[in-house]
Amino acid sequence: MDYKRLLITAALPYANGPVHIGHLAGCYLPADIYVRYQRAQKREVKFVCGSDEHGVPITIRAMKEGTTPQAVVDKYHALIKESFHQMGISFDIYSRTSSTTHRETSQAFFKKMFDDGAFEVKESEQYYDEEKQMFLADRYIVGTCPVCSNDKAYGDQCEKCGSTLSPEQLINPHSTLSNSKPVKRKTQHWYFPLNKYEDWLKEWIVEGKKDTWKANVYGQCKSWIDAGLQPRAMTRDSSWGVPVPLPNAEGKVLYVWFDAPIGYISATKELTPMWSDYWQKDDTKLVHFIGKDNIVFHCIIFPAMLKSHGGYVLPENVPANEFLNIEGEKVSTSRNWAVWVHEYLSDFPDQQDLLRYVLCANAPETKDNDFTWKDFQTRVNSELSGNLGNFVNRAFVMMHKLCSGRVPTFHKDATNEIDLALVADIKEAKEKIETAIESYKFRDALSEIMAISAKGNKYLQVNEPWNLVKTLDTNPGNQKRIDNCIHLSLQLCANLAIFINPFLPFTAQKMCGMMKVVERMLDWENGGRVDLLKVNYPLREPQILFKKIEDSEVADQVEKLKARSQQVMETKAAIIPNKQAEPSVEKAMIQFDDFAKIDLRTGIILRAEKVEKADKLLKLSVKLGEEERTIVSGIALHFSPEEIIGKHVVVVANLAPRKMRGIESQGMILMSENEDGKLVFVSPTEPVAPGSEVR
Ligand code: 2FM
Ligand code: ZN
Repeated sequence: MDYKRLLITAALPYANGPVHIGHLAGCYLPADIYVRYQRAQKREVKFVCGSDEHGVPITIRAMKEGTTPQAVVDKYHALIKESFHQMGISFDIYSRTSSTTHRETSQAFFKKMFDDGAFEVKESEQYYDEEKQMFLADRYIVGTCPVCSNDKAYGDQCEKCGSTLSPEQLINPHSTLSNSKPVKRKTQHWYFPLNKYEDWLKEWIVEGKKDTWKANVYGQCKSWIDAGLQPRAMTRDSSWGVPVPLPNAEGKVLYVWFDAPIGYISATKELTPMWSDYWQKDDTKLVHFIGKDNIVFHCIIFPAMLKSHGGYVLPENVPANEFLNIEGEKVSTSRNWAVWVHEYLSDFPDQQDLLRYVLCANAPETKDNDFTWKDFQTRVNSELSGNLGNFVNRAFVMMHKLCSGRVPTFHKDATNEIDLALVADIKEAKEKIETAIESYKFRDALSEIMAISAKGNKYLQVNEPWNLVKTLDTNPGNQKRIDNCIHLSLQLCANLAIFINPFLPFTAQKMCGMMKVVERMLDWENGGRVDLLKVNYPLREPQILFKKIEDSEVADQVEKLKARSQQVMETKAAIIPNKQAEPSVEKAMIQFDDFAKIDLRTGIILRAEKVEKADKLLKLSVKLGEEERTIVSGIALHFSPEEIIGKHVVVVANLAPRKMRGIESQGMILMSENEDGKLVFVSPTEPVAPGSEVR
């Protein structure tokens, strides 16, 4: 089918924390590459995204930070939006699901389905927290896993053994909000009978998408459909979300996975009055870029909703990526095992393209991949800088040295086979890159670009203009060879700018500056041409396109990652389990001898200061008797250095020293947590000399 316009969406990130590079690699970067390429093709395209501001993750974050859901989403929406902007993710709109347009749009969508009789009302029993007077989402219930006895399993999943659970299966369930034992209460919800869409989904996906959807996406959908679909509740009991637009629906909100994808529609409405062309005309190509954990929602549930509502286009493709691990381990926000985009931007200012390159070259397109800082360094130094940067630099330097800073003539009468081969290779590269991008194979496309750049280097190497110039006196014909070589090399530079523009837009801009051409030259149709730079046109001095990564930068980043996650573990370990919990459930019994091994001492905090580039850490000097200890503590988000000087504390004095951010920490301070989730020091209630034993 010939499409008139493209609508490209990227998953709405939860505004419950910053975005990390796994998010970028998973969907935002591929979506951006695709969109930039489409714009260069001068196709009509809109790229929409925004923050997903409802749902349990937001409320949990609010509890953890001791604040309101609204404050959480305001904070992270701004941070996420800025990170994307700085990374060059070129959304046409980055909206948010707390907008009025979104509330109205998602309510109208629900209401239409309701009026058409698309829902079934069902009563069920769900856990209720009597103390907090609210129904508990599965994630709010913690108990002992019936499979592995992990005492911190959630109502939907045990993170230790990976079992999928329901709250009923937990042994000794308790509410994470109040620690009380939840009770069962009757509640009523609106269910969407997905089972009624099975036949349609079989035809649309299982039959229809076999050849065009990625194997990982198609496979997941097929196994869901084969397993049989169940009615799914599209509403929840909560005070945070889009209110259910029906009478007698007090305290009910739309299920976050009902409202979030409608966020794509609301964002398009906010972007353009022509929104309905994009959503309701058959000649729109709708593509959802997502991570693999979102497949079922985008391929099954949302399309079934669109189908049920009627009048909307369905996704033509959903090119979901797998996950990106970091230094051999799965990303974990709770362990702080992640490379945060805003931190990368502040550690490597103006180096967005280095990260864009590495994340695309190593994208988890067909399987989970690993990001390591060492690999980042190798790819930047030997591929980006050693191949692409080097070629462009050599072509420009030689043009200034051997051709007085102008684009030399191309002498047809001096053309040889090597020139012709390069011209053919440039044309062929354009076709290959195009085919790869159109089929969502961005890694392949990028490697074609690097391959044609490598051919450029080889071309220079074979022609050796730097040697031809030495024998000009005896071989005046050499000048023509020099001219041809530099001429074609520069034309290849112009092509490289066009090819890399979707991938490395900041570099493409720099190259336009060096070539003194306007952005229009980057139009895709110009790719493959070897007459882009006019003969005799003066070009600028080359700029260094890619900064090299030093060994020390790699070491710093790895250290930062490890120190942060270790700090989280220590902070967690330092928090004494909530007193209301039953001790037998919290920790295994120990003998007195085990306890006696721990040397607990009282101390006084003499000095406190922030640790550079570690927003959670404070470096403390603690007096223990005659001795003074340095202790690095992960409490910087809870206390300012000034407010804790002079505090009496209890220290684990015989904990083996550990290095954090290069500082040796010689002990650990005991902390507890109050009901609001605020950390509090464990201190003697009456003055005790520093260094006294605690027994
Ligand atoms: O997984 C997530 O981060 C979800 N917030 C994605 C939502 S995508 C869309 F449906 F809004
Ligand atoms: Zn388990």
